[in-house]
Amino acid sequence: MKTYKIAVMPGDGTGPEVTVEAVKVLKAAADKFNFKVELTEFDFGSERYKRTGETLPDSAVDELRKFDTILLGAIGHPDVKPGILEKGILLKARFELDQYINLRPVKLYPGVDCPLKGKGPDEIDYVVVRENTGGLYTGTGGISMKGTPHEVAVQSAVYTRFQVERCLRYAFEYARKHGKKARGKGDKNTLALCGKTNVLTYVYDLWERAFHEIGQADYPEIEREYYHVDATCMWMVKNPEWFDVIVTGNMFGDIITDLGAMTQGGMGIAAGGNINPEGVSMFEPIGGSAPKYTGQGVINPLAAICSMQMMIETLGEDAAAQKIEDAVRFATGNKLKSMQAGRMGYSTSEVGDLVAEAVAQ
Ligand code: IPM
Ligand code: MN
Repeated sequence: MKTYKIAVMPGDGTGPEVTVEAVKVLKAAADKFNFKVELTEFDFGSERYKRTGETLPDSAVDELRKFDTILLGAIGHPDVKPGILEKGILLKARFELDQYINLRPVKLYPGVDCPLKGKGPDEIDYVVVRENTGGLYTGTGGISMKGTPHEVAVQSAVYTRFQVERCLRYAFEYARKHGKKARGKGDKNTLALCGKTNVLTYVYDLWERAFHEIGQADYPEIEREYYHVDATCMWMVKNPEWFDVIVTGNMFGDIITDLGAMTQGGMGIAAGGNINPEGVSMFEPIGGSAPKYTGQGVINPLAAICSMQMMIETLGEDAAAQKIEDAVRFATGNKLKSMQAGRMGYSTSEVGDLVAEAVAQ
């Protein structure tokens, strides 16, 4: 029987509550599909930081490298200055483990309220491939003459050809395997580059050239499209059915996936994966630690459950992944009244039970 070694980092706020439910469903899937999971919990997050001053030490990163995969709840706490935990834990893990892809499906499940009039599960069904280790997130820059009227602040969007190319290749491969044609939903697989070539004439020039070169040479059957980031936001609202797979840089990917999350029912259901295709990946809901709902048992665990589902799929347990997805569809389509915290008609753990029971059946 196959055994997966999984590091579990519940983190802050509602992170632990939703992680418990994801683990509950994971165990149900393991029983049903005959694989084993060996879970090791890590307490990185605000409490440990406040107690010890430690975020994610280098020794912990080395420890994490030994696992097959990582399941993360949420990082961030209102008492800790913004940036410390995010940079020290979340971004450090992404960078050090070279999780260069952030895969974020924008998928409206049955029964989920969509704020876009006239749009349903057929229209909202695409994926954003966000580059995850470069761009504005590298922290390149600095401040000089701080506190003076002449203070200078610089923060650079840094991309190498290597980074751009590996991300694009992942996105083309993804479109080939999971695009709308591959899924029987259309007559072609399409990859759209989201950029800003009219203003960011260096960085997105590099992206655009690489996009067409690689597409032409190695993925000629994949339809290529280009959208500026502002127009992308517009079409994500007006004509989301145009999209299939979108690839973009780190900052734009961060922003457009929050918009995408709202169109798929909100942070309660939006999942993501920080993927190193050759190494250790880390799966997390795309929303944050939701401090105002902490400890009340009202937060929606489906985003965490769906992130765990992506983890299982990435590990290659396709049948289990499909079953978990079906179980989530069953819960959204037949049970939950709303995706919003406190309005689901069920508690956090009852939602976990519903999905776990559907998986076990
Ligand atoms: C996300 C988050 C993070 C990001 C923050 C918490 C650093 O917003 O995962 O989208 O900007 O990547
Ligand atoms: Mn974000």
